[in-house]
Amino acid sequence: MELIKEMEDYALHNHVPIIRKSNLDYLINLIRENKYYNILEIGSAIAYSAINMALISEEVRVTTIERNTDMINKAKENIEKARLTERIILIKGDAFEIELNDKYDLIFIDGAKAQYKRFFSKFKGNLKDRGVIVSDNVNLLDLQRITNSKRSKRLVTKMDEYKEFLKGLEDFETEFIDIGDGFAISKLK
Ligand SMILES: C[S@@+](CC[C@H](N)C(=O)[O-])C[C@H]1O[C@@H](n2cnc3c(N)ncnc32)[C@H](O)[C@@H]1O
Repeated sequence: MELIKEMEDYALHNHVPIIRKSNLDYLINLIRENKYYNILEIGSAIAYSAINMALISEEVRVTTIERNTDMINKAKENIEKARLTERIILIKGDAFEIELNDKYDLIFIDGAKAQYKRFFSKFKGNLKDRGVIVSDNVNLLDLQRITNSKRSKRLVTKMDEYKEFLKGLEDFETEFIDIGDGFAISKLK
C-alpha cells in the first residue's frame, strides 16, 4: 500500500517514533494467529501501527488514544486516506483522563515510556478474559544507543522497574520477546 510507505517516510523525516518493522511483523502474526480483533492502542502517533493492524482483517477494530494535537491531525488524515474511519476510532486526549467501558482482546501500550506501569494498571480492567497486553520498546535500545544522559538513564531504570512489576503480577503471565527493541506480552492467567 502506497500510504504505508508514505507514513514510513513521513515518520523518518519528521522524527516520529513508529513501531519497528520487526516488532510490527511479530504483532501482526500474534493478532492474526489468535484472532485478537478488538484492539486498544495507547499512543497513536500518525496511526501507522493502528492502520497496519486494521489492515489484517475486515474484522479488526482498533480504538487508539493520542494526546498530541499535531499527531492527532496527521493520524486523522491517514485514517481517512486509508478509508478506515469505520474501523479505527481515534480518541483525542490524555489516556489517563479517558474512561473506557469496552473490553479488548489486545491492548497495545506504546505511549510515554515512563508511564507504562500506570497505563497497564489503568487499562488492565478493559482486557477480555483471554486477552493480552503488549508493551512495546521494553529494551529501549534506541535510547541506550543514542544518549547517555541522566534522563535516559532514569527511563532505563523506570523500564527495568516496569519489567519487574510485570514479572511480579499474580494475575498475569508475561513473556519477554527479544525482537527489535523488545516486546513484553502479558496474558491473563
Ligand atoms: C511511540 S509513539 C506511538 C507510535 C505508534 N503506536 C506507531 O507505532 O505507529 C507514542 C505516542 O504516544 C503519545 N502519548 C504518550 N503518552 C500519552 C498519553 N498519556 N495519552 C495519549 N497519548 C500519549 C505520544 O504523543 C506519541 O505520539
